[in-house]
Amino acid sequence: MIKLYLIDWLSLALKFLHIIVGIAWIGASFYFNWLENKLQRIGNRDDIAGHLWAVHGGGFYYLEKYNKYPETLPEPLHWFKWEAYLTWISGFLLLSVVYYLNASSTLLINGSTMSPVHGVGLSVFGLGVIWLIYDFLCKSAIVDKTVIFIGIILACVTLSAYLYSTIFNPKAVYMQIGAMLGTIMTANVFFVIIPVQKKLVAACIERAEVSSELGIKGYIRSRHNNYFTLPVLFTMMSIHYPMVYSNTYSWLVLIGVFVVVVLIRHYFNLKGVGKAKNSLIGLIVLALLLLIFSLAPNSTDKVNMAKVSFSEVEKIIEQRCASCHSTNPTDDFFTVAPSGFVLDTEAQIIVNKDRIYQRAVATNSMPLNNKTNMTVAERGVLAAWFREADDE
Ligand code: HEC
Repeated sequence: MIKLYLIDWLSLALKFLHIIVGIAWIGASFYFNWLENKLQRIGNRDDIAGHLWAVHGGGFYYLEKYNKYPETLPEPLHWFKWEAYLTWISGFLLLSVVYYLNASSTLLINGSTMSPVHGVGLSVFGLGVIWLIYDFLCKSAIVDKTVIFIGIILACVTLSAYLYSTIFNPKAVYMQIGAMLGTIMTANVFFVIIPVQKKLVAACIERAEVSSELGIKGYIRSRHNNYFTLPVLFTMMSIHYPMVYSNTYSWLVLIGVFVVVVLIRHYFNLKGVGKAKNSLIGLIVLALLLLIFSLAPNSTDKVNMAKVSFSEVEKIIEQRCASCHSTNPTDDFFTVAPSGFVLDTEAQIIVNKDRIYQRAVATNSMPLNNKTNMTVAERGVLAAWFREADDE
């Protein structure tokens, strides 16, 4: 009991940290991306590439971007790296606390015979392998062939999502893919962007030439990170929306959403440089409508047409839900009702009718990992009860 309570605090603290440093990282990344797009290019000076005026928080700001580097190395020179490192570190710890620690019920697919250690190993393995593949592609000539490059990355992510969906539960698959992309982003900062900047600083001190290739190397990775941002944010948020991850093809849905959010990012990047393509908006809206339509629950498929009595419903809830959702849970792991959601009394069941329907019928996302072995027929009874109550 006390152990779970403390784990919850740890998870809360890590999530809090993860979100704060993540905002700082992505905020800075969005801001510099915006600066780059809005910079007023001036052609009349060799040293300055462009400048920009802004007003914010009650003051005027003026900044300049150098073509190469300034006369002397400025002190202090601000770097942006700990936001990225801390986001990854807190994210990995959070993944460990929430998914690895209780792997048999939060990571592995229901009914899995895989050992938790094996599952955790495969998860960590994926984080490393995706980076090695991506980094290899970036260092090869393929990176210049944008369409092929995007195609290969998309194929790798799709294959990973599919393969992980055969061993992990859908929520964990989403987290795994989000963590893999987040790992690429952080590794880009650690292994490429920061080293490039260190070389720039060294060149500034020695007044040496900088090859244009160096800057481009850093710029490409930074640009990739910009496109990875929305997919990663989506995976983090989506786990609160079972209608997205709870269906047979959840891995494919994830890829569909990735394509949509990357197009959204692309639209804004084009818009930022005054080249907005309005046809993209049409494509995005169409893809979104298609997604929403194809994920709509089929309200008739599970309905058991016979009249159901409330005592039947109560019995099912007691057998399949109350081991966790009770003031005194009997589950071996959840010793306090998850999300404080309690289904002990008739009144609690009735008042939460919609939420029960949403999780146990529309999305099949409860019981968690179907730990209590709820049957399809039982879901049908709940569906029929919900419909009757709804018709009244
Ligand atoms: C093995 C434990 C377990 C069982 C059994 C279980 N749940 Fe859950 N439930 C959880 C956990 C953990 C969460 C929080 C994570 C989440 O929302 O996915 C949760 C969350 C929920 C929520 C969201 C509550 C909120 O306010 O966010 C609903 C609704 C729910 N469960 C309904 C059910 C129903 C209905 C059943 C029975 C058919 C059931 N659960 C069986 C563990 C369980």
